[in-house]
Amino acid sequence: MNDLIIQNIKQLVLPKSTERPLKGAELDELTIIENGTVVVKDGKIVYSGPFTDAYHATEVIDASHNVVSPALVDAHTHLVHGGSREHEMALKRQGLSYLEILERGGGILSTVEATRTATEDELFYKAERDLLTMIHHGVLAVESKSGYGLDRDNELKQLKVSHRLQEKYGLEMRHTFLGPHAVPKEAASNEAFLQEMIDLLPEVKQFADFADIFCETGVFSIEASKRYMQAAKAQGFRVKIHADEIDPLGGLGLAIEEDAISADHLVAASEKDKAKLSDSDTVAVLLPGTTFYLGKNDYADARGMLEHNGAIAIATDFNPGSCVTNNLQMVMAIAALKLKLSPNEIWNAVTVNAAKAMAVEAGTINKGDKANIVIWHAPNHAYIPYHYGVNHVDTVIHEGNIIVKKDLALK
Ligand code: NIG
Ligand code: FE
Repeated sequence: MNDLIIQNIKQLVLPKSTERPLKGAELDELTIIENGTVVVKDGKIVYSGPFTDAYHATEVIDASHNVVSPALVDAHTHLVHGGSREHEMALKRQGLSYLEILERGGGILSTVEATRTATEDELFYKAERDLLTMIHHGVLAVESKSGYGLDRDNELKQLKVSHRLQEKYGLEMRHTFLGPHAVPKEAASNEAFLQEMIDLLPEVKQFADFADIFCETGVFSIEASKRYMQAAKAQGFRVKIHADEIDPLGGLGLAIEEDAISADHLVAASEKDKAKLSDSDTVAVLLPGTTFYLGKNDYADARGMLEHNGAIAIATDFNPGSCVTNNLQMVMAIAALKLKLSPNEIWNAVTVNAAKAMAVEAGTINKGDKANIVIWHAPNHAYIPYHYGVNHVDTVIHEGNIIVKKDLALK
């Protein structure tokens, strides 16, 4: 006997299982089944495809008004952090830019202060609330970065919180060491601080899957980023990079050269570097919620990257300064409007390709996969990026168990 059948599914969204990330035109290929069935047993998918009544289960859900998809994957978040920065909105109204606020000791550095002051339990409690919001919005795989400690103890504190969350909720998580995220006030120089972070790599290895760096004007240069990435690779890390977010320093080219698992942001990436995506499996993780929140008019050139046969994913970049949302559905809407991506491209970018950007088995619900499923209160898959800013989740199923169910009275 099976545990669960989702029957009469109005639209079943099935991204393709693949070893490598989907690239270029492949992003627009998505199997959509009208009137589908999903069967679950022991937390795994037994069947997903066109309608069948050949299976029996103890629980049957009728989804004749719903879209059903894999749970979403958020491949870039700064989930664990102390404090909040609503006061920066006034500075922004006065016309100060993101980097100017950082130069004045605000921005990332004010979150560093709040993160250092917070106890591990305080950080855990805050991040737990934010993680639960993500789950309620249909996300069951999350990448989580450190980077607000900027010293040994506080970076480890953040990474430990991230692990505690994974243990408590059993989600697919990946943990990223982002020691070189900013230069703290007490550092003698950028160089000296970078060396300190490089020296930490062996110790943080047991708590981190990836090593990341913020390559940007006034933060870490291309040369510094290269040195860090090579040191991290020598310690067995796969690397990531915050690249070409504001200024076109060439971080995307460096990421491809260093075989990074992902290069993230890329708003200002050069034509030359974008063309290199064609021969690379480095995933371009685009974060249009950040461009929106920073009030910029130029968004990452997603269409150009796809024309160059690149692999792209979409993530929130959830953090207290440059993208204060952990609602990936909202970012899907911004991707539709500003990155000019089609619904198929967006769904692949927040499921299977996002999973590739964080090396996790997630984003598909084909036979044998973990039954991490979302039932959406929506008539079709294009509706979710279209009707923006609200939560379309009806039910979230984690490894076969229903963990979120909207109040039926509200239906
Ligand atoms: O990805 N760009 C650098 N880091 C974060 C922002 C962090 C912050 O402002 O607190 C980002 O946008
Ligand atoms: Fe980020």
